[in-house]
Amino acid sequence: MKGLSVIVLAAGNSTRLKSRLTKVLHPLCGRPLIDYVLDTAQSVQPRKIAVVLGNDRDKVEARLRGRKGLVFAHQKERRGTAHAVQVGLKALGNFSGHVLILSGDVPLLRPETLKRLLRLGAARPLSLVTSVVANPFGYGRILRDGEGRIYGIVEEKNASPEERQINEINAGIYCAEAGFLRKALAQIRPDLVKKEYYLTDVVGCAARQGIPVHSVSVTDGAEILGVNTRGELAYLQKIRNQELVGAHLENGVGMQDPDAVYVDAGVKIGEDSFLCAGVHLIGTTRLGKGCVVGPGCVLIDARVGDGVTLKAYTHLEDCQVKAGAVVGPYARVRPGSLIDAEAHVGNFVELKKTRLGKGSKANHLSYLGDAVIGKGVNVGAGTITCNYDGNNKFQTVLADGVFIGSDTQLVAPVKVGKGAYVGAGTTVTRDVPPGALAVSRVPQKNIQGYKKKFRKD
Ligand code: UD1
Ligand code: CA
Repeated sequence: MKGLSVIVLAAGNSTRLKSRLTKVLHPLCGRPLIDYVLDTAQSVQPRKIAVVLGNDRDKVEARLRGRKGLVFAHQKERRGTAHAVQVGLKALGNFSGHVLILSGDVPLLRPETLKRLLRLGAARPLSLVTSVVANPFGYGRILRDGEGRIYGIVEEKNASPEERQINEINAGIYCAEAGFLRKALAQIRPDLVKKEYYLTDVVGCAARQGIPVHSVSVTDGAEILGVNTRGELAYLQKIRNQELVGAHLENGVGMQDPDAVYVDAGVKIGEDSFLCAGVHLIGTTRLGKGCVVGPGCVLIDARVGDGVTLKAYTHLEDCQVKAGAVVGPYARVRPGSLIDAEAHVGNFVELKKTRLGKGSKANHLSYLGDAVIGKGVNVGAGTITCNYDGNNKFQTVLADGVFIGSDTQLVAPVKVGKGAYVGAGTTVTRDVPPGALAVSRVPQKNIQGYKKKFRKD
């Protein structure tokens, strides 16, 4: 069978990251590295993509389930990149087309570069991507003869001091004809230093047979940066974030300080919204048009409508805020909550699985959990829904137009009827009928002349 296939190498041990999480699952702006690589691979519409995985293959496979055209190959022992490609080829079965080899730890490679490599490599035995970079440390160096022909690649660890001066590096991305590749791989011997089978040796192998090796060069070095250490991951994160932030600026999102705004890859922001410094927009967050997001706000998988104001240090998670609402400063809105249009949530107010109706207000120091709050409700300072008895959670219902005085406890399950009042300091343990006033405080006593009697001097 002819055609184009892809092999993604992702069986490495992530040793240099010093992490329990396998390298290709580490997120870059909220998406695992492997997702970037597979998107790029899929952009050239290959027949199949073989993903070579190691010990953590179950976790990676679980993440990738649902993607079409993947075959998973298991490299039981880490024996080097050449061995990993052999494992990948086996999984692809008998085919005679070309194969693109990608590294699972090089996430920012552009589809255009892959297409360039493919145009160059489709009719040739072996081609690869290289780049001239300022700091080639850690990468394989491209060896060229006097005529500029590639005759080998030498790894950092094996390079002589002169070879280390070479600043053209191997990106680890190749296009090879399957028949040539099988034969070349069979000739590779383990490296003397690391005892691994190096894929880079196929280049020397081709050159020795008089087969020319071609290269496409990329000028934007970031595209081919690999993630081997935490420092490299953080650096790529910075670059990717700048790209994402740049695209939002382009789309009409204002920012106080773009370097201090963090947005994940899946985030959407409407025109004319403005983000202050220290804002984090995470996961699948959607922000409407004309919103203002104050300093230090964190939004995780939040749905925010148009014209919403989020004041400083507001934390929203898996919740909805509808048009024109004002939230914060220092508010925490937890999963399953909905703040309806024009509602206000103020400082040190926590909402959990609570619906705050249209135009309702909870402006100061409150905990509202498992509550359904109607329209035009005023929740006084320090109100607490006592929703948990140690075993189960119960609901509090505040109907439209209810007024809750300060420092009220609502012991759930409990309902306050339409337009009812609850006096300050009340512990509500029974339902309050519509239009009624509930008060549970002890009447105040004033003891005259107390100071005189009490003080001895
Ligand atoms: C490799 C190249 C180097 C190049 C660099 C570009 C080799 C020998 N060296 O070095 O020339 O400049 O990439 O980023 O190929 N992997 C497996 N199985 C293994 C070993 C590795 O699947 O047995 C996978 C890793 O998970 C990784 C990729 O192959 O995704 C590259 O391996 P890595 O160890 O990161 O190679 P580098 O030292 O970066
Ligand atoms: Ca690498």
